[in-house]
Amino acid sequence: MIRRFKSLFWKLNWFFKHYRQLSNGSIFIPNKFLGPIKFVADSVATSNNADFLTEPKFKRAYELALATSPWKDVEMQWRTFIVCTLAEMVKKLPGDFVECGVNTGAYSRAIIEYINFPQTNKVFYLLDTYEGLVASQITEEEKMAGVGDYLKTYTNVYEEVKKTFAQFNTRIIKGAVPGTLTQCAAEKICYLSIDMNVVEPEIAAANFFWDKLVPGAVMILDDYGFPAHIAQKKAFDAFAAEKKVSILYIPTGQGIIFKP
Ligand SMILES: C[S@@+](CC[C@H](N)C(=O)[O-])C[C@H]1O[C@@H](n2cnc3c(N)ncnc32)[C@H](O)[C@@H]1O
Repeated sequence: MIRRFKSLFWKLNWFFKHYRQLSNGSIFIPNKFLGPIKFVADSVATSNNADFLTEPKFKRAYELALATSPWKDVEMQWRTFIVCTLAEMVKKLPGDFVECGVNTGAYSRAIIEYINFPQTNKVFYLLDTYEGLVASQITEEEKMAGVGDYLKTYTNVYEEVKKTFAQFNTRIIKGAVPGTLTQCAAEKICYLSIDMNVVEPEIAAANFFWDKLVPGAVMILDDYGFPAHIAQKKAFDAFAAEKKVSILYIPTGQGIIFKP
């Protein structure tokens, strides 16, 4: 009886402390192993350890990401932490870094800081239209899922991006993928981020770069788990099956492939 009372007390106490963090009708069922919520943003709510949020190295990298003025009204620390950590893991492999879908360069700027990119002597290739999605690449299925809404959200950021990366060993390749892929001179690649919101250029980039990825290289699919991007998930599941690899799916929505 006392134990039940204690348990009920603990749950109510937990609820009143954290109820503001419960959003959109989602319900947490607390148990005695859960502590206070450590992170709630960008589709992730967790009471798991999130000490990276206050680590100076990551804080600085994330500040620089935010300084590029990327995402409106969203905090994306966990996703940014994942790309930074993966970049750190592969930076000693041979090969360059490639990002397809850069926008203002938030991830890439964070990575450059986090892994001390200049010391790697690598090139960071940054491919984007720098003015948003290509309407003709969006299928009816993607439009139905809401991908067409992105057409209104991106502005021309090319001049800002050139300034952001001027001091680093980057190659800024402007134009629509897949047309621009051959401008990427990297023969070997250890880090590939694919974040263009649309199946056609993403699968084209994955196929184009696959043989250039060195063993152990990482390919990150930023939109893999998002409901509006279900077409990307289906396309990459088929891609992974064809290449006989698995996609590591994590709660941030990111899908991660390591090149065998
Ligand atoms: C979600 S944003 C990328 C965000 C970025 N990874 C960051 O760090 O903030 C998607 C980007 O993909 C770009 N994009 C979409 N379709 C493209 C295509 N066919 N070719 C090149 N870039 C494209 C858009 O211009 C947009 O900047």
